[in-house]
Amino acid sequence: MNKQKIKIGMLGFGTVGGGTYRMLASNGKIIEDSTGVELEISRILVRDKSRKRDVDAPAELFTEDPDDILKNPDIDVVVEVMGGLQPATDYIAEAIRSKKHVVTANKAVIAKDGPGLTDLAVQNKVILRYEASVGGGIPILNALSTSLQANEFTEVTGIVNGTTNYILSQMTDNDMSYEDALKDAQARGFAEADPTADVEGYDAVNKLSILISTAFGVRVAPEDIPREGITNITKEDIGFATQFGYKIKLLAQARRYRSTLECHVQPAMVPMGHPLATVNNEFNAVFAKGNAVDDVMLYGKGAGAMPTASAVVGDLFEIARAYATGTTEQSIPTAVNDNTSLTFDGEGQNMYYVNLIAEDMPGVLGTIATTFGNYGIGIDTFLQRSRGRKTGRHVPLIYILHEVTRDRLNEALEEIVKFTFVKEVKSIISVACLD
Ligand code: NAP
Ligand code: HSE
Repeated sequence: MNKQKIKIGMLGFGTVGGGTYRMLASNGKIIEDSTGVELEISRILVRDKSRKRDVDAPAELFTEDPDDILKNPDIDVVVEVMGGLQPATDYIAEAIRSKKHVVTANKAVIAKDGPGLTDLAVQNKVILRYEASVGGGIPILNALSTSLQANEFTEVTGIVNGTTNYILSQMTDNDMSYEDALKDAQARGFAEADPTADVEGYDAVNKLSILISTAFGVRVAPEDIPREGITNITKEDIGFATQFGYKIKLLAQARRYRSTLECHVQPAMVPMGHPLATVNNEFNAVFAKGNAVDDVMLYGKGAGAMPTASAVVGDLFEIARAYATGTTEQSIPTAVNDNTSLTFDGEGQNMYYVNLIAEDMPGVLGTIATTFGNYGIGIDTFLQRSRGRKTGRHVPLIYILHEVTRDRLNEALEEIVKFTFVKEVKSIISVACLD
């Protein structure tokens, strides 16, 4: 076997960059023994060279000038782990144009520009890989686009954001407040630089867009995916969910319905018996239904330094293998296998949990049920909490409603809140439709 060395320029040395550096130091020999290719990190771009870092690397590797990597003819592979859309997108494109292979963990970039960057990589005969962009350490993109690629998928549903899953798990299982759980997730390195991307569902929308391209061959831009975050979820909702036999999870879901594709990112009540209900803390899972394989679920750590490094270094291993065999084909297609038989059709119908606060007096339940009925909305389950002897006149009325579009539900609720005996609609949470 001919010995070769690949020089890597790393853009970023935070949680994922530090983990990647550590993993190459500890496991690089596995790649070398298998491929005969040695991987060496030669330069590292950061914003501030003088900053003290958790992971030790020789000071001479650090630079604040991107050209030391992008215009450096000695660098063969660029690992982009700096995050954000810009300048990351431009740096990736420049690296590709300079005939450097690229590995990125950046879902924002791939969800927005994955197809264009893939085309650019194909034109320049270099490899672009991004396994870490979805599901951290879980090899979901590779599984969907290789071993499972001969299936026609009817559903892909994931818990794809570690930060929100950590927050919801801590609120459910350890009675932690939302704020404390978020701080904890940030300290553990799961959260994005701006955690709004996590808690408002933007990160999950980016990942769902990439999953949809990979599983269904349809391009749905992140901004077109109906999105709702977890900031309105209360401990009261979590308590009612438990009482009804559900766990609340932030779900990223895409479903094929005849010739249309429906999708959304939203908090959803998942039946306790479904495998996704058992996915806790920073763990992620992606559940897919293929017409031959049937149900498949991949589970693992979706965030954090070393699980994410596992995916980045796995991609580097593939590049080393391509060097060893002299091949540079794309291994993860994005929307290149365009599926023209499927059209995107919004979020479709869902079951919903609705918490209404209303006066406890005769006729209220009948009027509300009739109004739901007038909009064609059926009631699956209902619970009225007792007002007891000393509490006020208002009580929570908890409904689980049969499948309806969110627009239709909103119309019905707009009419219901006009009744003087209704104080407010406190929460609306979807109930997951999982086949
Ligand atoms: P991070 O801890 O915030 O680290 C970002 C690094 O990039 C820092 O070293 C920073 O330099 C550098 N950087 C940022 N902007 C820069 C600029 N304009 N010029 C030069 N250097 C710049 O981020 P992270 O958590 O490692 O995430 C990196 C990427 O991986 C993101 O795309 C994220 O979405 C993705 N990802 C993260 C995880 C996770 O668990 N954290 C999992 C999967 C994917 P300084 O150190 O000098 O500030
Ligand atoms: N902020 C992301 C999360 C990192 O919490 O899942 C992994 O993509």
